[in-house]
Order: sequence, then C-alpha cells, then structure tokens
Amino acid sequence: MIQRPRRLRRGQALRDLVAQTVVTPANLILPLFIIPGKGKSVHVKSMPGVSQLTADLALKELKRAEKLGVRAFILFGVTPKERKDERGSHANAADNEVCSAVKRIKDAGLNIVAISDLCFCEYTSHGHCGAMCADDKLVVENDETIEMLGEQALNHARSGFDVIAPSGMMDGAVGAIRAALDASSFEHIAIMAYAVKYASAFYGPFRDAAESAPGKGDRQGYQMDFRNAREALREAALDEEQGADMLMVKPGMPYLDILSKLREQTKLPLAAYQVSGEYAMLKAAAQNGWLDGQRVLRESVYAIKRAGADMILTYAACELSERAKNGVV
Ligand code: PBG
Repeated sequence: MIQRPRRLRRGQALRDLVAQTVVTPANLILPLFIIPGKGKSVHVKSMPGVSQLTADLALKELKRAEKLGVRAFILFGVTPKERKDERGSHANAADNEVCSAVKRIKDAGLNIVAISDLCFCEYTSHGHCGAMCADDKLVVENDETIEMLGEQALNHARSGFDVIAPSGMMDGAVGAIRAALDASSFEHIAIMAYAVKYASAFYGPFRDAAESAPGKGDRQGYQMDFRNAREALREAALDEEQGADMLMVKPGMPYLDILSKLREQTKLPLAAYQVSGEYAMLKAAAQNGWLDGQRVLRESVYAIKRAGADMILTYAACELSERAKNGVV
C-alpha cells in the first residue's frame, strides 16, 4: 500500500491543524540601538528598516511593539567617540545611553521585559569587549574584565533592566555577574547568557549600527571558532553551572545544528539571535526583487524556532508581529 503523507496537506485548515511549530509575537525580542539626545533617528544603511534612536523615539517604538504583542526588547548603547576610553568607563555611568533609556521606558509603565546587552565593545576606544592586557594590546584580560562586567551589571540592574545578557564570551563571566548581583540584593534579576557566540562575519552591519568594530585585531581570541560544535555544548554547560537562567546561540540560521544539539542538552529556555548580517541578506535580496522578503523572513524565524529556540532576537520583530494573523506569525 502506498503511504500518503500528502493527505494532511490538503488545504490550509488541515495544514494549520497539524502544524508542529508556532511562532507568536511573544517569542520575539526586539533589539534597539540608543543614541544620546532627543527626537533623533539615524537610519542604519546596511540594515533597511532599522535606525539608531534617541530614548524618546525608542519609547515610542516600544509602545508600538507592546501593542503588537512583543514581550521583550534588548538595548545597545551607541557611545559618542569622546566618551570612549581604554576601559570603557562610560559603561558604568548611571546616566549613559542605555541606562537613561531604560529608566524612561520603565517610568512609562510598559509591560515588556527589558534586557541589557552587557559588554564593553560599545564603550572602549579600541572596540574590544573588555580591558586589554598590559603587555599585549590585542588580548582581552579575562579576569579583570569579568570583575568590570559585575560592576556594569549592577549599573544595569539599578537602572531597571530585568534581564542581563552578557555577550563578551569571557570565561567565568556568568558566575561573576551572578555573584555581583546577589551581593547587592538583585537575586531576582535573570541572566540570559550569550553562551554560544561565534566569531562571525555576520555581525558586520551591527558594528555599523553600534559603532563598535574593533580598531585592531578581531574577536577570535574570545568568541568561538565556527568550526566547532562540541565546544558549544561545553560553553553552554559552563554558563548553566554558573547560574545562567537562559542560554543563547548566535548567529541564528547558520547555526541551527548547534541550536538543535543544545536543545537536547539543556532544560533551560533557549534564545537564538538572528543577527544583523542575516537580516541584511534577506532585506537586500528582497530589495532586489530576488526573494519574497515577507515570506523568507517568516520562514527564517520558523526555522529557528523549529530547531529548538524558544525566543528569537530579530530586527524584524515588529514587522513580523504586524503581519501576524490570529496572534500567530
Ligand atoms: C556585542 C554584541 C555584538 C552583537 C550583539 N552583541 C557584536 C559583536 O560581537 O561584535 C551582534 C549582533 C548582530 O550582529 O546583530 N558584543
């Protein structure tokens, strides 16, 4: 007898009935780039539809996101050049771009989770993700940096962030941040670890948007080598042991194998970051008329969810949610 899987593909209603994966706006996390000032929005050329925003305009965008059902956002600060220094001290200023923005957003009473990207590359003059070794200006000093990350985490917690997301791939960072938070009565603040973050060329457009490209050298001394999969599971296990509440894999679509393997290993909620380069590729092809932009965007987030992600950080969070039907993307 011939097997007939096509029986269940007869018509949209039947396909919806048996659909295995669902993406809703609540699964999406909106990244925003914050610039100082008021009433200013600067378009990021390599990311069509994405702009650097001042806090007031970010609030406006988040009100829209909240209405659309998006439940979380992540902030990246764009630091003016004159505020950057060797140790990224502006990261600890209580009134820096992300801290003032989150205060404003919290004061407005939005019911949406505030996540902070915890790193130094947006604040250091050399563009690396921490303090550099005294005897080698191309190597980030791990243990000094994780102490500094603990201080930065406190600054974020005091400003009102609900979740801290360390993205620098320093060894022991999650443990150091957890200890710093707990020692200051922030035991309720969650950590979403960028547990598996590859040294990826797909971050190119982000570095334009956040103005955070390293001046000299690259990030291969701390971010992961894309030839490795087992190491990803080890990195994730270490972050889990140190107290991470959620784990992230980044980039998204080129690393679905990692996501799916990690889904088998951990019971923690998993996030995946559809990064700037993935977004830029889809948008560029769509603008050229080579791909159907709406359909590939939707398909890409379904692929990421199907591979094992509970949450997806995507620059298209609002766009996808706007087109959701009956609450489903
Ligand atoms: C900061 C950070 C980066 C991204 C997120 N957090 C850049 C980097 O590691 O250079 C990239 C996100 C994207 O490309 O969309 N460390």
